[in-house]
Amino acid sequence: MTEGHAMLARTNHDERAEQLFVRDLKTYIAGTLEPSIAKSAECLDPGEGHNSRAETTYRLLQESESFGGYLSLRRASQELLWSLVGASVDRQRGDLDAAARSAPVRGSLTLDPQTKQPEYLADRDVHLMPGGYGADIEGVAQGALMDRGGAVYMLGRNGGLLNDGRGWTLASHLKTRWPGRAPKRILELGCGIGASAVPLAKAFPQAEVHALDVGASMLRYAHARAAYLDVDIHFTQGNAERAPYEDESFDCVFTCVVLHETSPAGIEAIMAECARLLKPGGIVAHLEVPQRYDSVPLWTKVRGEIEHEYNNEPNWKVAISADYAAQLTRAGFIDIETGFQDAVRDASPGSFDQVSKGVFRSWFLASGVKPQ
Ligand SMILES: C[S@@+](CC[C@H](N)C(=O)[O-])C[C@H]1O[C@@H](n2cnc3c(N)ncnc32)[C@H](O)[C@@H]1O
Repeated sequence: MTEGHAMLARTNHDERAEQLFVRDLKTYIAGTLEPSIAKSAECLDPGEGHNSRAETTYRLLQESESFGGYLSLRRASQELLWSLVGASVDRQRGDLDAAARSAPVRGSLTLDPQTKQPEYLADRDVHLMPGGYGADIEGVAQGALMDRGGAVYMLGRNGGLLNDGRGWTLASHLKTRWPGRAPKRILELGCGIGASAVPLAKAFPQAEVHALDVGASMLRYAHARAAYLDVDIHFTQGNAERAPYEDESFDCVFTCVVLHETSPAGIEAIMAECARLLKPGGIVAHLEVPQRYDSVPLWTKVRGEIEHEYNNEPNWKVAISADYAAQLTRAGFIDIETGFQDAVRDASPGSFDQVSKGVFRSWFLASGVKPQ
């Protein structure tokens, strides 16, 4: 993986070897161990008509030692990822804070120490990242952890260390569905370290881009990172369910892999908030993981149980099962489409259809328009 930008935590020789080791271990678990566990799952499948097919298969799998070994290794590799990247970030914390202080003056940063995290973030460290997204620590360390750790977590396959494939794909989706539209004000809800907001700002250079998330450390980092990547983004701390912006103040509001980390009520609240924030005629777009519960194989359904119990993502299964078209309709949107957008590395229009090409090759998109 090539180095990405001036805020990224650097690696010395040993740290690079450690991070490559974790990436390769995770690749081995997913690419070699998982297919054989998936075959065992098929042998235990209680059958099509069973009303809790995936849950039953998961429970039966748990009786085997090899499945326990797989689960433990999966969990340990995730914990190892964060602890190795965390140690590397800690070693250079002073340098990272200094780099943030001397970042070019671009965009803005508005922090609100009164921000209360929603229960679904406060209650757990999503993906096992220690401290979670909202970690209230000095400086930029939590952002540095999320940025470098996130790129390793994606095995470098989502745009290398920039981890920006989702943002480019969302921009490509907007240009595919609404060619020629040039939104003046764009907002990302749940921006993290701005990995997706930056490509949006580059794809729509005429737009004023805003981005919101819960954690101060993450946002300090995101602001400096965007500045080094040469874009103006206005970062604000807050809860996407009650975002601190005026009614009808944006032409486009989007989320990128946020909904599956919230809750059923959180998804509804964020969709309603998007409707409030958009001007009439404005565009909403939600990018999510490229699986739909009804059309994935049994093993992917079983993985929903594993994400819940071993990766602190209890809403993963809910989010890939949700009827986004119905939810967007309830939130008042029209001209709604759902489907899979080809994963790309620039914002040119691409293919948007009903078939997922799989992880790292497509993303699920649900988008629509606020009526005039
Ligand atoms: C997987 S990260 C994705 C970050 C970014 N969208 C990207 O594509 O790189 C999910 C982000 O959603 C944020 N998030 C989830 N629920 C939120 C809420 N109610 N308000 C603000 N941010 C939220 C989390 O804090 C986290 O940074």
